[in-house]
Amino acid sequence: MRLDKFVCKSTALTRSEATAQINAGRVKVNGEAVVKERTQVHESNRITQDGVVLAPRPFRYILLHKPAGTVCSNIDEAYPSVFRCLDLERTDELHIAGRLDADTTGLVLITDDGRWSFDIIRPDQRCEKVYRVGLSQPIADDVADRFKRGLSLQGEDQLTLPARLQIVTPTEVLLTITEGRFHQVKRMFAAVGNRVVSLHREKIGKINLDIDVGQWRALTEDEVLSFSS
Ligand code: URA
Repeated sequence: MRLDKFVCKSTALTRSEATAQINAGRVKVNGEAVVKERTQVHESNRITQDGVVLAPRPFRYILLHKPAGTVCSNIDEAYPSVFRCLDLERTDELHIAGRLDADTTGLVLITDDGRWSFDIIRPDQRCEKVYRVGLSQPIADDVADRFKRGLSLQGEDQLTLPARLQIVTPTEVLLTITEGRFHQVKRMFAAVGNRVVSLHREKIGKINLDIDVGQWRALTEDEVLSFSS
């Protein structure tokens, strides 16, 4: 981690305040003043500020039930940011593991642990995501098989990985995918001549959405550890 980030995560300082402290030689790494804020440091290093040992706050792991009309971004765009649903401090340190579109609802995982979120989104992890999908037209008979075999999406060379389709009603299905390509679910249904009219993520890995829309909760230790390979 960068030294300025380490100082921010261990104190109430902003990034620019942390940089000023570092540049003034008030931060030491293993006893040596390090004046470059970009220096990489490790948790095992002894890092002090004015002689006081710094210890980063523990990582945060959060489950949010995203409402429609919010964006998975740290800043408000055309819609308000999902971070407005969190009554937490320092939301600028948090990021989302697998974004949803503004009109998509459901399960969002939020953290400040970049290694943990990378384990969820990295393609070779094949982490399952389950979506409840509302369709404009009844689902055709061959779609489950086409999704299982892999589809060619417009503008992409690689077929989608095998996906599972469970039919709930002719216009409502559950889709399980293990990738996170841009607008993947909407594009998969477009590729088979249908259109998504509602999209809701119910599950990521072993984590189920068990809270009301707009609510959040901390993940349990078991849930956090469930993504370790
Ligand atoms: N696929 C989409 O098309 N949209 C989402 O929000 C998530 C998956």
